[in-house]
Amino acid sequence: MKLDSSIAAVVTGGASGLGEGTARRLAAEGAKVTLFDLNEERGQAVAKEIGGAFAKVDVSDEASVAAGFEIARAAHGQERIMVNCAGIGWAEKTARRSSSGEIMGHRIEGFKKVININLIGSFICAAKSAEGMLHLDPIEGAGRGVIVNTASVAAQDGQMGQVAYGASKGGIYAMTLPMARDLAREGIRVNTILPGFFETPIYEQMPPEVKTSLVAHLQYPNRFGTPAEYADLVHFMVSNDYINAECVRLDAGARMPPK
Ligand SMILES: NC(=O)c1ccc[n+]([C@@H]2O[C@H](COP(=O)([O-])OP(=O)(O)OC[C@H]3O[C@@H](n4cnc5c(N)ncnc54)[C@H](O)[C@@H]3O)[C@@H](O)[C@H]2O)c1
Repeated sequence: MKLDSSIAAVVTGGASGLGEGTARRLAAEGAKVTLFDLNEERGQAVAKEIGGAFAKVDVSDEASVAAGFEIARAAHGQERIMVNCAGIGWAEKTARRSSSGEIMGHRIEGFKKVININLIGSFICAAKSAEGMLHLDPIEGAGRGVIVNTASVAAQDGQMGQVAYGASKGGIYAMTLPMARDLAREGIRVNTILPGFFETPIYEQMPPEVKTSLVAHLQYPNRFGTPAEYADLVHFMVSNDYINAECVRLDAGARMPPK
């Protein structure tokens, strides 16, 4: 799909990190972009900078997502591009013994929260967007639309403490093929990116020594990726009409060990 001002896009998590980088790139390519995010202040600021729109949306809440699409479509028309970047991290073991011998189980509410935001939130946005795209006429050679999801390398090699996060991202990975099959007849493509380590606010609180230890798992290049590099793959998945039902690792060759 060729991008220009006749193409509308929605990017969740667009106020920060990978979503922000994606929103900036799609806007720079000419698309009209609406950001969905909980962070209203930052979301409004990014939207203003890129000449786009913002809707305060909780992706895990169906009514909130529906209201967001109303705002996006009133501003730019029905989107042909839907990029899911909203998500949260979580670190907790299935069960563990503390250094003082105390036994603790994983908080079930925490597990549910990660699944609700990362997996169910991505599905709600993708499904509602696809429903809207079905009302569009296809573009010659480019179909009706494109959905890009964000999983993680944790979908394939989740580390200790990543049971909830890995399950949420594994769900996104696993829904890519059936979703692409569901929508193929309607000319809607679905692809998923599995990022490794990217320079985003998610890592802001991380001590430098932990960051250094993560970099040790990379092959080449020996550094975190940038949101612009992530956005470049989103742009490729949008603009190359032949890539479909694909999950692509973007990780400098990293294969994660247990910890
Ligand atoms: N940065 C990385 O290295 C990395 C690696 C693998 C996967 N990912 C995934 O990429 C995605 C983006 O990560 P990032 O690093 O850009 O993080 P980030 O924290 O910079 O951005 C995430 C954005 O999502 C928003 N958000 C969180 N919960 C939301 C909700 N319920 N509804 C709407 N918006 C919500 C936040 O407000 C934030 O603006 C996440 O799904 C993350 O799991 C990131």
